[in-house]
Amino acid sequence: MPESTMQKIVSLAKRRGFIFQSSEIYGGLKACYDYGPLGVELKRNIKDAWWRDMVHRRDDVVGLDCSIIMHPDVWRASGHLAGFSDPLVDCRNCKERFRADKAPRAVPGSALVCREGGKRDGRKLAGTVGPAGYVCPVCGSGDLSPERQFNLMFRTSLGPVDPVQEILDALDSLVELEPSKRKERLAGIVDRTAVYLRPETAQGMFVNFLNVLNSARVKPPFGVAQCGKSYRNEITTSNLTFRTCEFEQMEMEFFVEPGTDEHWFDYWSRARFAWYQSLGMRAEKLRLRRHEKEELAHYAKACVDVEYFFPFENPEGEGEWGELEGIANRTDYDLRRHSERSRKDLSYFEAETRKRYVPYVIEPAAGADRAALAFLCDAYAEEMVEGEIRTVLRFHPRLAPIKVGVLPLVRKDGLPEKAGEIMRELMAAGINAFYDESGAVGRRYRRLDEAGTPWCVTTDAETNANGSVTVRERDSMRQTRVPMTGLAEHFRRLLGGG
Ligand code: GAP
Repeated sequence: MPESTMQKIVSLAKRRGFIFQSSEIYGGLKACYDYGPLGVELKRNIKDAWWRDMVHRRDDVVGLDCSIIMHPDVWRASGHLAGFSDPLVDCRNCKERFRADKAPRAVPGSALVCREGGKRDGRKLAGTVGPAGYVCPVCGSGDLSPERQFNLMFRTSLGPVDPVQEILDALDSLVELEPSKRKERLAGIVDRTAVYLRPETAQGMFVNFLNVLNSARVKPPFGVAQCGKSYRNEITTSNLTFRTCEFEQMEMEFFVEPGTDEHWFDYWSRARFAWYQSLGMRAEKLRLRRHEKEELAHYAKACVDVEYFFPFENPEGEGEWGELEGIANRTDYDLRRHSERSRKDLSYFEAETRKRYVPYVIEPAAGADRAALAFLCDAYAEEMVEGEIRTVLRFHPRLAPIKVGVLPLVRKDGLPEKAGEIMRELMAAGINAFYDESGAVGRRYRRLDEAGTPWCVTTDAETNANGSVTVRERDSMRQTRVPMTGLAEHFRRLLGGG
């Protein structure tokens, strides 16, 4: 069977050093990934572009970097401890554990056939779809456990006391207690030291609202941006880095006066949609999808998702819309909840109008890993060149991991030395360049095409004769001659930096 586009992207990601399975030499860890030398540059370039456009290029947004472990009351106030859960179901046939709300829908009571144990060669089993109206996403069975709520937050303990050891030490005394008292004692032991890895960066901005207001001399409308790791014990992980348990978010909370929130919601929805296109993502692969009322999170008055059409495989074929970013109108929900729990006044007093209000919040919340995956998928292209397939990643130059490949045409006549001079000049200018002298020049160009390198500089006989080099452009493969001196400035200009 021919490889699907996604399979090709996954194998290129590994071959070229974008994404590796975590702990691969030990058999890998499900849904955990490492970024290789090219992947780390791609993701860093995305985060840098986001920070530049969301913070540095604006006078109404400041940055923040909060700790991943926060006071557990943060999660009590935000509602995450009580309600940040997914409906979990077990398949009794193939033992898959999955999310009920993401499972394939089917008409309750209708007949189905699946294979015993979910195995291809298993005996055929006839069954019916249960009253909940879905089947197992792996084997299609309707023989499923009841749904139970599963909290997505990772719990750990802070301090030198190990709650598991404490429970073990208390086991004898616990057996004597009646069940409800036993549960209470156990919960008491766990709760004393329990802390959580943050499931979103957003709460750091809410609990620091006063700190930022008092230290940065900002006033609404203003935003606080943060980029950092978040953790969710996802039940279903899939499609490389699309949904993982550890991921990076790029979130901004924009505090506005109530009544102006709808204006800012529209403003940020449009701005964030345009951002992906400004970095080269194809417009036809992007859409803005407004949430239906039933889909809205408990805190949101409105929400739109920026979605990308990923080449994921699914039963209908190739291609699926997936969320890159959500823009939500969170109203004053979070500030009010933290105000109530902490008993701190989180309102804003506007001196000119003598008005006091709790700001509303518009939140553009993006994922750095999802964006990296989408930019990787979007850049992937194959074309026939001189009877051979050329695989190329057409990254926007700002996102390209390596900006310039430096190649001596041959390994003699002083050409490697000239190429070395160019490398030193580019590195000194902070332009990520890569030197390659091994193999035929055509092969080297192809390797750099696969890495998404927008330009290659080649030193050749003319370099010795008149001090000029060849600059080859990745997408058009056009070659032009430019002077060897001033190359760093030449590329800096092309990268839009001066
Ligand atoms: N503060 C709001 C919030 O966290 P979200 O839609 O749950 O909203 C925002 O997350 C973005 O974070 C998503 O659009 C997605 O890009 C990214 N994200 C969320 N869960 C993820 C996961 N399990 N793996 C990778 N990225 C994830």
